[in-house]
Amino acid sequence: MDKIIVNPYEVEGDIDYKKLVKEFGLEEITPETLKRIEKHTGKLHFMLTRRIFLAGRDLKWLFDEYEKGNKFFLYTGCGPSGPIHLGHLMAWYFTKWLQDAFDVELYFQFTDDEKYLYKDLSYEEIQKWLHENMLDVIAVGFDPKKTHFIINTKHAGLLYPEAIKVAKKITFSTIKSSFGFTDSNNIGSIFYTSMQTVPSFLPSILKKKKIPCLIPHAVDQDPHFRLTRDILPKLGHYKPASIQCSFLPPLTGRNGKMSSTESVKGILASDNPNEVKKKINKYAFSGGKDTVEEHRKHGGDTEVDVPFQYLRYMFEEDDKKLKEIEDKYKSGKMMTGELKAYTIQRINEFLEVHQKRRKDADKKLNSFMLKY
Ligand code: TRP
Repeated sequence: MDKIIVNPYEVEGDIDYKKLVKEFGLEEITPETLKRIEKHTGKLHFMLTRRIFLAGRDLKWLFDEYEKGNKFFLYTGCGPSGPIHLGHLMAWYFTKWLQDAFDVELYFQFTDDEKYLYKDLSYEEIQKWLHENMLDVIAVGFDPKKTHFIINTKHAGLLYPEAIKVAKKITFSTIKSSFGFTDSNNIGSIFYTSMQTVPSFLPSILKKKKIPCLIPHAVDQDPHFRLTRDILPKLGHYKPASIQCSFLPPLTGRNGKMSSTESVKGILASDNPNEVKKKINKYAFSGGKDTVEEHRKHGGDTEVDVPFQYLRYMFEEDDKKLKEIEDKYKSGKMMTGELKAYTIQRINEFLEVHQKRRKDADKKLNSFMLKY
């Protein structure tokens, strides 16, 4: 069996999410929670009904508070070390839906410090990616009046006094066991998690009242926020709630997650229609059979088929249409080529809109920066 690793700094293997939820001590999103979300938003996002966002922490508490009039804010982030890919966009477009549906503030952290400390890249390269990545976040369409960018190195004066309060509560041995670090890790990386904790209570400090926090994120970030949840009550803050998603599979199949540094694994937000076409046709792992006869007879496997999974995760919002494709593919009526062609078209339609919005994102940059 393949080794399975899921932590903020390594994701490997064909992840069994049921097992992972248990191992991490997460709560699956219950039908009651979905009903409550639907009650407040009018409808459920397909990433919820399809269980792409599959688990969380303290969601019941969060909506109890919400129903008492204690509105939450959203907190998510991006580590700038390369181009943005579809896996990032998936989580951010869902976050935008949450922002609109609940009409709430969003604090968006850019962890340029983290990526400088963990990656073999110069400070200048990280700063370049920081700028590029911010434009993609703006292109998602977040409300500039309700969205606040926090850049760890630029907002250091604001973050540092809070980060040291967090850091004082964490021992080196806790860090080692949480992230698998050893004595040879650089000392900045050991401190870093306290920077990622701060935005989960920073708005409460700025507004001088306790405000609940909801963090949408992929399951690999949970080790950070498990620590956060241990510490925050000791500092007089609420524990943050979270809503967590599984990984959009890389082109190569279900193992691991999409990555921006290995170009054969991912589709980038900046890819043009031809690049998308080439990547899907050439690299996307197919659940189809080897020959036409066999495929017609036995049908394809949608569970492992990457193009089908892209439709399910992101690009086919219409449940009826998705089911139709699933039935046709499984029964052998639809061939791999046809499924790939449809997926290419849907991804390209999506990216066209995203890229168009990104063109004038630079002008808006200033209005997104957290002012304090
Ligand atoms: N550590 C994350 C990354 O490497 C970035 C990040 C910071 C983040 N704060 C977050 C992600 C909150 C999700 C939620 O990409």
